[in-house]
Amino acid sequence: MPRIISVLNYKGGTGKTTTVVNLGAGLALSGARVLCLDMDPQGSLGTWLGVRHTCGVADVMLGYVAPEACIVPARENLDLILGSQALVHVEGQLWKFPDERAARRVLHHTMKNVNSYDYILLDCSHSISMLTHNALLYANELIIPVSTDYLAMLGVRQVIDTLKNIGRIPDHNLKLTLVVPTMYYERLRKDREVLQLLEHYFRGKVAAPIRANVKLAEAASRQQSIYEYAPDSYGALDYARLVERVLHNG
Ligand SMILES: Nc1ncnc2c1ncn2[C@@H]1O[C@H](COP(=O)(O)OP(=O)(O)O)[C@@H](O)[C@H]1O
Ligand SMILES: [Mg+2]
Repeated sequence: MPRIISVLNYKGGTGKTTTVVNLGAGLALSGARVLCLDMDPQGSLGTWLGVRHTCGVADVMLGYVAPEACIVPARENLDLILGSQALVHVEGQLWKFPDERAARRVLHHTMKNVNSYDYILLDCSHSISMLTHNALLYANELIIPVSTDYLAMLGVRQVIDTLKNIGRIPDHNLKLTLVVPTMYYERLRKDREVLQLLEHYFRGKVAAPIRANVKLAEAASRQQSIYEYAPDSYGALDYARLVERVLHNG
């Protein structure tokens, strides 16, 4: 069975998409079979990896097509199911469900036969939405990227609160796998302090930080993973280290 990992923080711009792309690409390079799902209406995953398709997560969740028909290969071992504006419509439809529990399990239900991957990564939007609840209930693991500016801590606390609620749903075993500090400036005292705080709140669950590295942003505009665009950069080094941690941290 795949490890299904939601990448989430209730704050925009904390490196969720950057982490899904470069963790996914790194796992794929290591030989694992990886599927990335874009749960964000902005649809940045496909744009980043230069991939288009006629259907995506929205069509799957609305029951129009089987997930297999929406899977599009992006790289060797790395497939995507794309996000789009249509996810906003899905959100509206989910609120109309008479049974809220069923509404939160649509993704879980529609994806249940997609088992031929080692990893399924979900790039969540930062809104606390039905879509996000669907991602959390489908996943069995959670990775939280936290940019090391202080405000990002608020996002983490919200995620913790939500996790407590999620934990109350019977039969759901979502595990916090890692908190990933991103955009980290080692020479800034503030960043070192935030790192210490994270290590205090999430003992043993904090990954080595991803340093701030402009090559990561440039890679997106070149439609490449960091290993393709700048394999010797800090960004590539840090994400490769994260890949190792995830591979060995079941
Ligand atoms: N480690 C990093 N160093 C420098 N820039 C980064 C880093 N991680 C992400 N970025 C940039 O920060 C912005 C937000 O990142 P993104 O992954 O899109 O966040 P999110 O998906 O959480 O909204 C993007 O422009 C991205 O290129
Ligand atoms: Mg994003």
